[in-house]
Amino acid sequence: MNFHTRKWVKPEDLNPNGTLFGGSLLRWIDEEAAIYAIVQLGNQRVVTKYISEINFVSASRQGDIIELGITATEFGRTSITLTCEVRNKITRKSILTVEKMVFVNLGEDGLPAPHGRTEIRYVKDQFKDDEPIA
Ligand SMILES: CC(C)(COP(=O)(O)OP(=O)(O)OC[C@H]1O[C@@H](n2cnc3c(N)ncnc32)[C@H](O)[C@@H]1OP(=O)(O)O)[C@@H](O)C(=O)NCCC(=O)NCCS
Repeated sequence: MNFHTRKWVKPEDLNPNGTLFGGSLLRWIDEEAAIYAIVQLGNQRVVTKYISEINFVSASRQGDIIELGITATEFGRTSITLTCEVRNKITRKSILTVEKMVFVNLGEDGLPAPHGRTEIRYVKDQFKDDEPIA
């Protein structure tokens, strides 16, 4: 799993108990996962369909640096299934896990459309057919 996105937990991200507000974390995860799905499926018209149980494993506090990891576990006909973990960047302690997030690829009509993808595409492969820059 690649942990691409880092966040620095700030006062505006906290709940009244002084720990990271779950709603802030879920917003970051949904956006990160959507971007992952868009890149993997090569289509900006992708929507969140399903999110499985969310396990808030441990609390995070102001000043913590956390990182979000996402990876694809399944490519369906019109959907992609992802799994997610958030952890403390310094201690590697797990903060949250989401076992399953399903995103659906939509066509111009807003209906599910086949995406034709079957495996994870890595950044190094996405541009390998490009003309070399002189
Ligand atoms: C996404 C949406 C178009 C799908 O419509 P639908 O009638 O469920 O479509 P389908 O039954 O054809 O299913 C589409 C895909 O989703 C999968 N799916 C549907 N319901 C699912 C569920 N509860 N859990 C997991 N996957 C599900 C199907 O297996 C299918 O995947 P596949 O083609 O890879 O097999 C529709 O549900 C929708 O618009 N939902 C709202 C999305 C939204 O607003 N999200 C929040 C903002 S991004």
